[in-house]
Amino acid sequence: MSMFVVLLIGYLVSNCYSHQRDYCWKEYLGSVPPDAVIAGETLDGQNVYVGQAFIKNVGLIPGRVIPGDPKLHVPHDGQSKEGKYIKILCGPQDNFYWLKANSTDLHHLITDQHPVVGGHDESNGYLNVGRISVGGDTKVGKVDSFRVEHANFYYSDGQAEKLTKSYEILMYRHKILL
Ligand SMILES: *[C@@H]1O[C@H](CO)[C@@H](O)[C@H](O)[C@H]1NC(C)=O
Repeated sequence: MSMFVVLLIGYLVSNCYSHQRDYCWKEYLGSVPPDAVIAGETLDGQNVYVGQAFIKNVGLIPGRVIPGDPKLHVPHDGQSKEGKYIKILCGPQDNFYWLKANSTDLHHLITDQHPVVGGHDESNGYLNVGRISVGGDTKVGKVDSFRVEHANFYYSDGQAEKLTKSYEILMYRHKILL
């Protein structure tokens, strides 16, 4: 490998922002980077962040990160599963917004806008990031956006996976449009 390639890879790894996107997923081992994107709060007032984790034979699934907890539980197949290789979404907070959506109208609502890709389901395709507030507790999970007119939102709740049809989806402002 030439020195140029080595330097280029080093640059890309240290600066995970690309020229097309203003956000990136950083490795998460329990401490929250200062530029992590805040999604809301827990009932006891802690910030909630956006994470993603890998589950073998399933894919890369979005869920919520809570400070001090190095684990990430993600919704899958009716259950809340503990994922591996956790990452946390980082970037300028002002470049993100949450759009009110529902499972039937999602695809019309996001036309010409940019939902954050939060992972993928190995058998179906891309997953986006959703959130809802359950009595003041912010839940973050996956939006099955590959199912047109059935783009439901799923999140972990204790040991279970819960589904809702009305939620907010995480969007970002494209640099070119700014
Ligand atoms: C879905 O969202 C659209 C746009 O906000 C709204 O017009 C529609 O009534 C919603 N549908 C349901 C089932 O909530």
